Amino acid sequence: MTTQFSVADIELELLRYPPKQEANLQAWDAADEHLLKQMTENEQTAVTTAVINDSFGTLTSALSHINSQWPIIIETDAKTSQLGAQQNLERNQLNNPNIEWHHSRALLPQGIELVLMKLPKNLNYFAHQLDRLSQVLTKGTPVYIGAKAKSINKALLALIEQHLGQANASLTWKKTRVITCIADGKARPLASETTWTIPQYSLSINNLSNVFAANKLDIGARFMLEQMPEGNFNTVIDLGCGNGVLGLRAKQLYPNAHIHFVDDSEMAIASARSNWHANQLDNPQITGEQASFHWDDCLTHLGEDVEPGLILCNPPFHQGEAITDHIAWQMFLDAYRKLKSGGVLHVVGNRHLAYHVKLKRIFKNCTTVAANGKFVILQSKK
Ligand SMILES: C[S@@+](CC[C@H](N)C(=O)[O-])C[C@H]1O[C@@H](n2cnc3c(N)ncnc32)[C@H](O)[C@@H]1O
Repeated sequence: MTTQFSVADIELELLRYPPKQEANLQAWDAADEHLLKQMTENEQTAVTTAVINDSFGTLTSALSHINSQWPIIIETDAKTSQLGAQQNLERNQLNNPNIEWHHSRALLPQGIELVLMKLPKNLNYFAHQLDRLSQVLTKGTPVYIGAKAKSINKALLALIEQHLGQANASLTWKKTRVITCIADGKARPLASETTWTIPQYSLSINNLSNVFAANKLDIGARFMLEQMPEGNFNTVIDLGCGNGVLGLRAKQLYPNAHIHFVDDSEMAIASARSNWHANQLDNPQITGEQASFHWDDCLTHLGEDVEPGLILCNPPFHQGEAITDHIAWQMFLDAYRKLKSGGVLHVVGNRHLAYHVKLKRIFKNCTTVAANGKFVILQSKK
């Protein structure tokens, strides 16, 4: 992995999060370099800056390197991106006291004078982020958005204009462009959440804009719902829960269980929580909390006292733009570490991802529970 970042006199050592990943992936891309090049060419001074979708803290670290007191408001939906930024600030001994951390639903503060943003893959989420900015930016505030040149077209510029203000794209440099948008000072209302139903399980699902499976049940998840394990489980983890659909079904099947919902996306955790309450899944015959919600990177911070008998997992196979199986690998390792003896990891995956190889290496056993043309359901026992 290349870790030496060098742009316009800014020298940093930057790692992805988690730091151990395949050799060819690095913590930043050319759009980060382009944004920083533009900042230095503009001789940008250290005004209060919102940094949005900064994958592993490259922009935050670079601004803090230019001025160690640069006031920065970080907005990210991904826990791994927050942890990555913290790791890179520490690694480069950048002790900027003026950094505020926000997730993608917290209210943005007033007084933002500049915005640096990376274009996310999900354009509904992007529109939501622009609407949020429109509620706090005063007229004339510059917003710079870095992206691959191939992602920028007239429709994207029109979307930015509709949600925040007029936008123009720079010339191409290293296959990237920087869009300059000037906020028009008009506050837009936030779009409502998407809600859909799964009639055969009587579940109503509500998805915030950055949650996986935006407006219908994922086909892998559907297959998993048809193949849930039989048993009497007390503690179940829905690992990479998205809107929580697997954990919600688990509570219907194992009514005495406590369900832990875990996801890297804060919006996913908020959706899972809201779906738990909307579907009224608490069992009135038992007392105390019956569900917990964790915004976390896999099971890194899950309490020592949580000893699951079952972990349900439909793993992601990309991190941001990068196709990678390291998250699935980490999820399986964490599952092995946390499961109680005799506990079961129940996984759905695309056939071609060959998760059985990983599971066999970790658990020394793996059974194919079901298969169709596209997916397999695999089970490993600790
Ligand atoms: C394929 S989706 C499955 C969502 C849901 N369980 C379903 O079946 O519809 C994978 C989920 O893993 C989450 N995820 C990605 N990286 C993660 C990580 N490092 N830790 C925890 N969750 C992660 C994603 O945000 C996404 O919600």
